[in-house]
Amino acid sequence: MMDWTDRHCRFLHRQLSQHTRLYTEMVTTGALLHGDVPRHLDFNGEEHPVALQLGGSEPADLAACAKLAERWGYDEVNLNCGCPSERVQRGAFGACLMAEADLVADGVKAMQDACSLPVTVKHRIGIDRIERYDFVRDFVGTLHQRGGCTVFIVHARNAWLQGLSPKENREIPPLRYELVHRLKAEFPRLTIVINGGLQTDAQIAEQLQHVDGVMVGRHAYHEPWALAGWDTAFFGVAAAPVADREAAEDLYVAYLESLAARGTPWPLAARHMLGLHNGLPGARRWRQVWSDHRLKTRPPREVAALARAAMAGRGAALAA
Ligand SMILES: Cc1cc2nc3c(=O)[nH]c(=O)nc-3n(C[C@H](O)[C@H](O)[C@H](O)COP(=O)(O)O)c2cc1C
Repeated sequence: MMDWTDRHCRFLHRQLSQHTRLYTEMVTTGALLHGDVPRHLDFNGEEHPVALQLGGSEPADLAACAKLAERWGYDEVNLNCGCPSERVQRGAFGACLMAEADLVADGVKAMQDACSLPVTVKHRIGIDRIERYDFVRDFVGTLHQRGGCTVFIVHARNAWLQGLSPKENREIPPLRYELVHRLKAEFPRLTIVINGGLQTDAQIAEQLQHVDGVMVGRHAYHEPWALAGWDTAFFGVAAAPVADREAAEDLYVAYLESLAARGTPWPLAARHMLGLHNGLPGARRWRQVWSDHRLKTRPPREVAALARAAMAGRGAALAA
């Protein structure tokens, strides 16, 4: 997710779940081919399994970027055919590509020929007012037959390409999970992952009755502690990787310290942790300390101590 799932966020999420697959923000082919590649592609070794998401439509450019993904050590390369933003449409990629299945199939094929990574596609169930199932079925069928794609991550709502902001496009077009279930029933050998509006473990488990996987976006970001239960709930692991929220916080504070030691401003990374204690008494006070701009030049350990004290109701004077 743009501006959210950067490498720092992914590091945090990996401390909470060792098995959940993590995705980068979308990186455009233009940014990679003409920009600062290490800045876009570097990641922490701890993040595996991690997928690079690309935005683009030119097969040759996508192929070159897929090669880069492999060279950088990613585990998967994913093509975005679901983003509705106007900036993305002007570049002729994102959700508008759902109207150009042949071009996308060529792109996927070119990526597959260029690298040995799994090439996957993220898309919607339709664009604008095209609500019929055949549209998404034919998109998936074409990408499979002509492009060799076998893994599809389906955001279960349409993208309305005119008149809605990207945020509204994640909220207003109705969710229609049944279309994604139908895809799985019709293409049983393909891997179909469902996305959109899923939050609780019970909802995830219910979806797994119908499809192969679940992608969780906003809830994972806002409530990172949710990830801590997923290894045991969904990956058959006996124990969660961290015992409790404090342990997760300690690990991340150590990471913030390592960033600070390298001269990287730690508040850029600390923001991803702000939901960690949501739902607990004092969580708001804890969050306020971490967000306090007056503390941004202090060492993360000091801020952590202030935040803990505030959370326990002891720290208002210290944080002020
Ligand atoms: C801030 C933000 C940035 C996003 N950026 C991307 C992106 O770069 N690529 C992508 O495929 N989807 C992106 N999305 C969409 C999410 O991946 C997801 O499809 C959508 O939020 C619905 O799932 P959810 O209800 O689990 O959040 C973004 C969503 C948000 C909130």
